[in-house]
Amino acid sequence: MAQIISGKEVSKKLRAAMAEETAALKAEGIVPGLAVILVGDDPASQVYVRNKERACTELGFYSEKHVLPAGTTQAELLALIDRLNADPKIHGILCQLPLPAHLDEQAVIERIHPEKDVDAFHPANVGRIMIGDYHYLPCTPAGIMELIKETGCEIAGKTCVVIGRSNIVGKPMAMLLLHQSGTVTICHSKTRDLPEVARRADILVVAIGKPKFVTADMVKPGAVVIDVGINRLPDGKLCGDVDYEAVEPIASAITPVPGGVGPMTITMLMRNTLTAAKLANGR
Ligand code: GUN
Repeated sequence: MAQIISGKEVSKKLRAAMAEETAALKAEGIVPGLAVILVGDDPASQVYVRNKERACTELGFYSEKHVLPAGTTQAELLALIDRLNADPKIHGILCQLPLPAHLDEQAVIERIHPEKDVDAFHPANVGRIMIGDYHYLPCTPAGIMELIKETGCEIAGKTCVVIGRSNIVGKPMAMLLLHQSGTVTICHSKTRDLPEVARRADILVVAIGKPKFVTADMVKPGAVVIDVGINRLPDGKLCGDVDYEAVEPIASAITPVPGGVGPMTITMLMRNTLTAAKLANGR
């Protein structure tokens, strides 16, 4: 029986500590402020944005939601970001991705001031992560590091395999594991004999966006398995990138979907926003 790593429980602990810290800052007149921008009406994005707002309210943050129509121009979106960059109430700005196809995502990311870039997607922040000198970590990999910590598994010297090489998850995840002295391999669509590589992992992080991609034969007995996937099956149920029922009996620890990585991502966004508020006020 594997340990089921509950992102809900870990989030609860971390958010309780953050709520206390927020209350202490408020006593000094500092209220962390997050602006979330949503362009268009993608249903999954709407859910994420709602959850982010709810988390802000629970912690006592100030939050603003800017919902723009799908036909918004690049100039209009950049003008909003400029306004938020200049607004002292706002410490963090998040533009929900993906954007509609006519918008230039990278230009939008680069317009957000690096000190307000609580996603840590700006090239300046990405570069800082590479060096290991950063204020903000990207939310999903940061949340995963907290979940691995929760298992008690020491990363140093371990074989770590990350499946997926996105800028949001796979690449920064590999870097964070490397900072903790893991021996890291990144797998992707061109990897030869991916099951054999995955089977070497003591720590396996899966962020490939394919339902039940990782099967039991791809997992080393006793591995820590982190499932970043959120896929909707034809019957409407959510499932991860890992075949949970088959892999759970083999792993030493595994994250469920939902309730694993998902809640942690928002918790880490809240942590970055808190950090941004402190930095903006010289703390
Ligand atoms: N879309 C999916 N994940 C994320 C995220 O972490 N940040 C933003 N801005 N958009 C996303």
